[in-house]
Amino acid sequence: MAQLWGGRFTKETDRLVYEFNASISFDKRFYAQDIRGSIAHVMMLARQGILTGTEKDEIVNGLEGILSDVESGKLEITDQYEDIHSFVEATLIDRIGEPGKKLHTGRSRNDQVALDMKLYARDEVHILNQLVRELLLSILTIMEENVDTYMPGFTHLQKAQPVTLAHHMGAYFEMFRRDHERLVGIYDRMDTCPLGSGALAGTTYPLDRDYTASLLGFEGPTRNSMDGVSDRDYLLELLSALSIMMMHLSRFSEEVIIWNSNEYQFVEIDDAYSTGSSIMPQKKNPDIAELVRGKTGRVYGALNALLVAMKGIPLAYNKDMQEDKEWVFDAIDTAKGCLVLFTGMLRTMNFKKEQMEDSAKHGFTNATDAADYLVNHGVPFRDAHGVVGQLVLLCIEKNAALDDLPLEEYRKISPVFEEDIYDAISMETCVNKRITAGAPGKTAMEAEIAACRKYLDEY
Ligand code: ARG
Repeated sequence: MAQLWGGRFTKETDRLVYEFNASISFDKRFYAQDIRGSIAHVMMLARQGILTGTEKDEIVNGLEGILSDVESGKLEITDQYEDIHSFVEATLIDRIGEPGKKLHTGRSRNDQVALDMKLYARDEVHILNQLVRELLLSILTIMEENVDTYMPGFTHLQKAQPVTLAHHMGAYFEMFRRDHERLVGIYDRMDTCPLGSGALAGTTYPLDRDYTASLLGFEGPTRNSMDGVSDRDYLLELLSALSIMMMHLSRFSEEVIIWNSNEYQFVEIDDAYSTGSSIMPQKKNPDIAELVRGKTGRVYGALNALLVAMKGIPLAYNKDMQEDKEWVFDAIDTAKGCLVLFTGMLRTMNFKKEQMEDSAKHGFTNATDAADYLVNHGVPFRDAHGVVGQLVLLCIEKNAALDDLPLEEYRKISPVFEEDIYDAISMETCVNKRITAGAPGKTAMEAEIAACRKYLDEY
């Protein structure tokens, strides 16, 4: 048991208390951020004349040595320390002696941990954004290749009107674009440095908080020291953004599962991204999509857990806040894993274009357009709706698509129909007449694709 405190205690900490209290098993994850923060702190202390130049050099060299030794595996972070901060400080004192004892001047673990967590979250947001970009790129590639791939668009999971695969994918592009924008917004809002807040009330040393903030790449210092040590809003915002992103991935997964089913056969998930059954030799299961859908619950759980943990905490720092870490780490790991796996699955997935088009034709997705044909020939819409309803009924009886029904049959129900009805209800016409902004028609879609491409170029 190695602790940073003990002077005012007359007894050893109970073993179970020590273990219950310790956080090293999980906060060792941000050793690099902890060391980065300490180096900035020491540089500032020296600049302010609180440490000598020699002390600063010895401490910085010591910290850099610890960092590279941990990275190379030479130095192991063990459970004998209470937390990562104790590990770094104790190791430093072990290695360089007296000057090491000055590292913690004008600092508390409260502002230190607030800084470490923020640095960690910022680094992770950066990685998350790159992974979201990869996903957006895969979606855009599918869009570019499928402007003419017709498929049914659904409402209530019932075939509704024809769209294209490009258009359907474009909807997901928008969702993940918003996820990216949310992450960028969060990054901007967490651009303040809590270091220098001390335990809660600042310090009596003449710290230059602007300098440490700028060394660490922040826009400036946090504005209130009590808030500085106890603000976890940025983590809640991050968990909330990740929850929304997971919701998008989960909906997408659900569609992949449906599309990959024997009944739909719109896609075939690549063998490398499918799994088999131990008993049923014919099976090829969409486990990855199901797991992404399932793991969404973990991320929602993390958001809920942290909201609940925070709701009753009085100012300023309280140990409850140590609980933020495992939830946030797990949610970030889960989201990153899901992004990587989902993108890989999407990239290798085979889209069965003929099956999609056939499904659109045989689901009466062009019925609205047949009614519009009548309206264009002077029939009131309500009457046209009734006429096409009768035609659909007839097609169901004959097991035919509207496209296959002979003209005589059309004319028996309404003499307004002419030979050009087939052209008017072809998938191509149905889609390509829809050219208002955001619609699936080719010209609208091409403009949209160009805008998406530009978004990724400027990402
Ligand atoms: N392990 C602690 C945490 O994660 C570090 C801060 C400890 N501060 C304290 N006053 N006990 O929150």
